[in-house]
Amino acid sequence: MPEPFRPLVTRVKVRPGPDDAFPPGPPLPAFLQTPLMWLMRPRWMSAVHHRYGKTFTLKDVMAGRIVVLADPVDVKAVFTGSPDVFLAGEGNAVLGPIVGDHSVLLLDREEHLKERKLQLPAFHGERIAKTVGLMREVTEAEVRTWPVGVPFALHERTQALTLDIIIRVVLGVEDPLRSRRLHEALRKALEFDPSYFLMWVFPRLQHVGRWKRFLASIEAADRLLFDEIALRRQDPDLAAHGDVLSMLLQAHDEAGDPVDDRWVRDELMTLLVAGHETTATGLAWTFERLLRHPEQLARVRAGLEDPRDPYVDAVVKESLRLRPVIYNVARVLARRTRVAGYDLPEGTLVLPSIGLMHAADEHFPGAAEFRPERWLDGVAEPYTWIPFGGGVRRCLGATFALTEMAEVLRTVLCLVDIAAVGAEGEATRVHHITLVPAKGAQVVVHRRLDSAAAAMEQRADPGTLAPA
Ligand code: HEM
Repeated sequence: MPEPFRPLVTRVKVRPGPDDAFPPGPPLPAFLQTPLMWLMRPRWMSAVHHRYGKTFTLKDVMAGRIVVLADPVDVKAVFTGSPDVFLAGEGNAVLGPIVGDHSVLLLDREEHLKERKLQLPAFHGERIAKTVGLMREVTEAEVRTWPVGVPFALHERTQALTLDIIIRVVLGVEDPLRSRRLHEALRKALEFDPSYFLMWVFPRLQHVGRWKRFLASIEAADRLLFDEIALRRQDPDLAAHGDVLSMLLQAHDEAGDPVDDRWVRDELMTLLVAGHETTATGLAWTFERLLRHPEQLARVRAGLEDPRDPYVDAVVKESLRLRPVIYNVARVLARRTRVAGYDLPEGTLVLPSIGLMHAADEHFPGAAEFRPERWLDGVAEPYTWIPFGGGVRRCLGATFALTEMAEVLRTVLCLVDIAAVGAEGEATRVHHITLVPAKGAQVVVHRRLDSAAAAMEQRADPGTLAPA
C-alpha cells in the first residue's frame, strides 16, 4: 500500500527580515513570477540572468525567495558545502507517496549518506559496463517495432525503451510475460501529473476520481515489484546476477541485518522515477539535435564500427549541455548561511542553475551551437557542465544514463536510416521538472539498413563512458 497522503507541512516561506539582503531580482510580484517560472522556465530565467547577472532572486508563491546561482565558484560552494546545511531531500517530500519514506531522494544528512552508500556499488562503472549488451538487445527489439516511412514522435518510443531497459537491467526481469506486465503497470504508475499533488492539500481527494485511480496504479505496480523481490530472494545464486535488484537484496543495514522488502521496493521505485523519464528525454533531445546536423551525424556513422570511438560520447555530452533535461537543482538552507556573498536566512531555496551555466559563452565558446567536437578538444572547467547536479546528491544513475544514451544512439544508427522531420529545430516545452522537445522529437525512418546485422556483429565488446 502506498503511504497515505497527509497534509504537507513545509517550512514557512521565506520573506526578507530586517537583516536580510537578497541578491537583486525582478520587482514583479510572486503571483506573476510563479507561472513564468513554471511555464517558460528557460526563457524567463535567461532574461533575468541577462538583466541581473550571475546571482539573482526570484519570488515564488509557495517557496518565497529563490536565489539562483550561475557562477561556478558559487555552485561549487553549494555542491561541496555541508550536507547538514544544504538540504535536498526536504524539497522532494511531495514524491513521498510514490517513492516511499525510505527513498534516497527524500532523505537528508547522515540518513541520506547511509542510504546512498548502500546503493553506490550497484552503479559502479564496471558493473554498468557489463550491462551494455543487454541495453543493445532491448534497443534492437524496440527499433524493430518502429514504422518505416511514417513520421512519429521519438520521445514516446524512448520512454518505452528506457522503461524496458530499467526492467531488464535494474530489475533483472527476463521472462517476457512478467516483463510486459511490469511495463504496463509501471507506465501507469509513473504517469503522474502535478494535479496529483493536490492530494497534499486536500487528502480526501485520494478517495475519488483520477486521484483514486492513480493510487490504485501505484498499488498495482507495487504488487508486481514485491513479487519480483520475493522471487529473487528465493534464487540460490543471487550473487551471480548483475542487476541492481539482486545487488540491493544483498545489502545489509547498520545492524548487519538483511534489508527488508519495503526498503528494496522504495529504492526501486526511486530509480524508476528518477531514471526513466530523464533518460528518455535526454535521448529524444540527442536525436533531435544530431539528426539536424548532417556533418556530425556522418561522423557518428563513420565511427559506428569502433565501439571506443569517443565521438558518440561527445555527442551525448553535448546534447545534455545544450538541452539539459533538468534546468536547476535545488537545495534548502537548514540555517542562515553565506552564499555568493549574501547572508541568506534559513529556509531559502537555492538553485544552482544547470541551464544558465551550460548556455554561457564564457564557459562554452559558441554555446548556442551544437558542437560535440568541443568535448574532444578538452574538458569543461569544473562545475560548468552539471546535467547530473553535484556533490553528495549527484545523480546516482549518471554513468548508467551516459552509457545507455551512447549505446542506444549507436544501436539505432546501426539499424535504421533515420531523419528529423522538418529543418527547424524543436522548441523546448516545460513538462513538470523536465524540459522536453515541444513536438516530441518528430522523426521518420527511411529504411532499415541491410548491413545492420553485420555492423552489429563486427562490434566487439563496447566501451563505456568514464564517469564525468
Ligand atoms: C539523462 C538522464 C538523467 C539526468 C539528466 C539526471 C539528472 C539528475 C539530477 C539533476 C539529479 C539531482 C542532483 C542534485 O541534486 O545535485 C539526479 C538525482 C538522482 N538521479 Fe538522476 N538523472 C538521469 C538519470 C538517472 C538514472 C538512469 C537513474 C537510475 C537508474 C537516476 C537516479 C537518480 C537518483 C537515485 C538521484 C538522487 C541522488 C541523491 O539524492 O543522492 N538518474 N539526477
